[in-house]
Amino acid sequence: MKLISTFLSIAVLTTAAFASPFDPRTYLQSRAGRILETRAEDISPPAEYSNTLIQQRADPHILKHSDGFYYFTASVPAYDQVILRRSETIEGLRNAPETVVYQRNATSGPGSGYLWAPEIHYIDGKWYIYVASEINGRGSWAIRPIVFEGTGENPLTATWVDKGVIDTGINDFSLDMTYFEVNGVRYLSWAQTDPSFGSGTGLFIARWTNPWTVELPAVGISYPTLAWERIGHNVNEGAYVIVRNGKVFLTYSASATDHNYVVGLLTADETADLTDPNVWVKAQEPVFRSYEPTENWGPGHNCFTVSEDGLSDVFAYHSRGYKDIVGEPLNNPDRRTRVQKLYWRNDGTPDFGVPVAEGLTPVRLRTAGGDAQYLTNEGDATNIILGSDVPVEQTLFRIINPGLIGQGSVSLESANLPGHFISNQCGNAVLVEDNGSEKFKQAASFEQVVGLGDADGVSFKAGDEYLVVSLDGLVIIGPADDEAAATFFTE
Ligand SMILES: *[C@@H]1O[C@H](CO)[C@@H](O)[C@H](O)[C@H]1NC(C)=O
Ligand SMILES: *[C@@H]1O[C@H](CO)[C@@H](O)[C@H](O)[C@H]1NC(C)=O
Repeated sequence: MKLISTFLSIAVLTTAAFASPFDPRTYLQSRAGRILETRAEDISPPAEYSNTLIQQRADPHILKHSDGFYYFTASVPAYDQVILRRSETIEGLRNAPETVVYQRNATSGPGSGYLWAPEIHYIDGKWYIYVASEINGRGSWAIRPIVFEGTGENPLTATWVDKGVIDTGINDFSLDMTYFEVNGVRYLSWAQTDPSFGSGTGLFIARWTNPWTVELPAVGISYPTLAWERIGHNVNEGAYVIVRNGKVFLTYSASATDHNYVVGLLTADETADLTDPNVWVKAQEPVFRSYEPTENWGPGHNCFTVSEDGLSDVFAYHSRGYKDIVGEPLNNPDRRTRVQKLYWRNDGTPDFGVPVAEGLTPVRLRTAGGDAQYLTNEGDATNIILGSDVPVEQTLFRIINPGLIGQGSVSLESANLPGHFISNQCGNAVLVEDNGSEKFKQAASFEQVVGLGDADGVSFKAGDEYLVVSLDGLVIIGPADDEAAATFFTE
C-alpha cells in the first residue's frame, strides 16, 4: 500500500511537471531518488513468447485455469475434430500432446459436418466446449453452436456429454459462441445471421440461463455496416471479451477469412446492461490488421489470456504468413496460432499494435527515470526518442541475443520496421536498416548489463558508453553520468 500511494503521488507530480509542452529537463530533475520506490507497483514485466506458436491451428482459444494449466483448443484444417492441449506455460502448448475430445463420425445430425472455432470454459465445476457445427450433415451449411459438457478435473481425460444445439432464437446460421461474466452477470455471445439485417453475420448477446441455454430474445449488438467489415463477405464473428479499467472490451473479426480479415472492437461500461445494444460503441477502424513488413496476413479470431506470472495480458490470434491464397480460404490450412502481449494506453484502452514478426516477441524499454516514457522510433533513419502514448508498435524492440556481432552482444530490432536496428550514428541512437556491413553490425551491437540505476532494469553498453536519454529528450550513446538515464525496464 505504501508503495502504491507513493507511486500515485509521484504520478500526479509528474503529470503536472509534464503539462504541455513536455520538458525533458523538468522530467530529468524531478525523477531523482524515486526510481526504486516507483518500480514495484507500476511495471508490467515482459511476456516473451516465440511465434508462430502452433502451425495449422486457426481460431485459437487459450484458457488459463485455476489448476495452473493453460488449455488450448482451435479449429483443425479438416474441421472434423475438437482437440485439446494443456501445458503449464503458453510456450509449452507448442509441443504439448494433442487429445481429440470429439471426432466427427456420423454423416447426419449435430456434430456431423464442419466443426469450427471451439472454446473451452470452466463453469461451476464442469467443463464446457462450445463449437460451431453443421447440424444437418456435411455440406448442409446449417451451422449452429453446440455444447459439450465435461466431467473431471482434467478436460483432456474428462467424460464428455453432448448437450446439443443452443437455441439462439433465430433459426439461422450461427457460430463462434463465447462465454463470459461481467459484474456477476453471465453471458453468451455469438455470431448470427439476422434475416432482418440481410446476408452475413452480426454479433448477438444474451444472458445465460445455464451453459446450454440463453435467455431469449437475444439482441444484436453489432452488424457489419462499415466498409472494412464487408470485404468478401459481410462478417462480424469470433467475439471475445476482456474486462479492464472499468470497461468491457469485446473484440470480433470482420470480412472474409483471407488477408482482409481484421479485428474490430466494441466497448461498453462494465456496469452497463450489456444486452442493451445502445451501450456498445464500435471503433470506426480495425484495431488489428494485416501487416506487410512482418508478413502477417488476415490476423483475427483472437482470444485473451494472461502471462504465466499473471501480470501481463496476452492475446492469441491466427494469421497466415503469405497474402495470396489459391482457392477457397476455408480450405487453406495455413492459419497459425500466434501470441503476443497486449499493451494498454494511458486512457485505459487496449493497443494491439501490429502482428509481430516470426521469432521472439518484442518488448518495450521504459526509461527508469520517468513514468510511461519509452524508447520510440519515428520511422526509418530517425533518431530514437522518448515517447509517451505513441502507437505501441513504435515502442517495441526485439532484443536479439546474440546480437549482430555475435556472442556477448545484443541488438535492438524494431518491431514495426523489421531489419531496422537501434544503432550508434556519431553518438546518436538512430533507427537504421541493416546494410549487412561489419561497420553497421558494430554500430548496432551493445552489451546488455544489469541496470546501472536499478538492478531490475537493464543498461546497454557500447565501449565505455551507454544508451542514455539525453537532457534534450533524444536518445544517445554517451557517458552514464546519470545512471537512471542509462537504465531501462523491459515490459
Ligand atoms: C461417435 O463418437 C462418439 C464420441 O466421440 C461416440 O460416443 C459414438 O459412439 C460414436 N458413434 C459411432 C457411430 O461411431
Ligand atoms: C552501412 O552502414 C554503416 C553504419 O551505419 C555505414 O557506415 C556504411 O557506410 C554503410 N555502408 C553502405 C555500403 O551503405
